[in-house]
Amino acid sequence: MRESDIEAIMQIENAVYPFPWTAGNFRDSLKAGYDAWILEDEGGVIGYAVVMWLPGEVHLLNLSVAAACQRRGVARALLRWLVDDTRKRGADSMMLEVRPSNGPARLLYQGFGFEQIGLRRRYYPAAGDSREDALVLRLVYDHG
Ligand SMILES: CC(C)(COP(=O)(O)OP(=O)(O)OC[C@H]1O[C@@H](n2cnc3c(N)ncnc32)[C@H](O)[C@@H]1OP(=O)(O)O)[C@@H](O)C(=O)NCCC(=O)NCCS
Repeated sequence: MRESDIEAIMQIENAVYPFPWTAGNFRDSLKAGYDAWILEDEGGVIGYAVVMWLPGEVHLLNLSVAAACQRRGVARALLRWLVDDTRKRGADSMMLEVRPSNGPARLLYQGFGFEQIGLRRRYYPAAGDSREDALVLRLVYDHG
């Protein structure tokens, strides 16, 4: 991901999340040196991911696929690549937060073997003034 990709990313981000990241969140991620990837087809960006490294573990901060390209295995392929890449580079596990209401994402992570390790109460903004919990999931890598 480069700064010049952020405009295309924001088109997707604003369409797929009720509470999207801002362009500034993506710029800050690049400045912070997080792993930030885009997936393109001939028409441009169709998916992206942002990954932060912690000691021994990576934190998946954002994983999104353009609405028109969903349900074709794009997220599965991107996540498979992220897991392989970070495992080869020395991580032992990947963790992430997901909304309990985000059925598609939960099924995606379940299919990879992610397990719930915690709950952050009232973590996400939600409709009106309310908040939604976050499920904390982790996938422990198999280095065998
Ligand atoms: C979640 C998201 C990344 C999935 O992307 P995708 O490319 O459509 O997912 P894939 O086609 O690779 O699907 C992989 C698996 O995820 C699950 N899944 C994905 N979308 C689903 C849906 N709409 N309903 C039910 N299950 C779904 C299924 O288990 C699917 O496997 P299957 O097709 O064999 O049933 C996409 O819906 C998205 O960008 N959503 C908005 C952003 C978001 O919520 N990101 C996750 C934040 S934690």
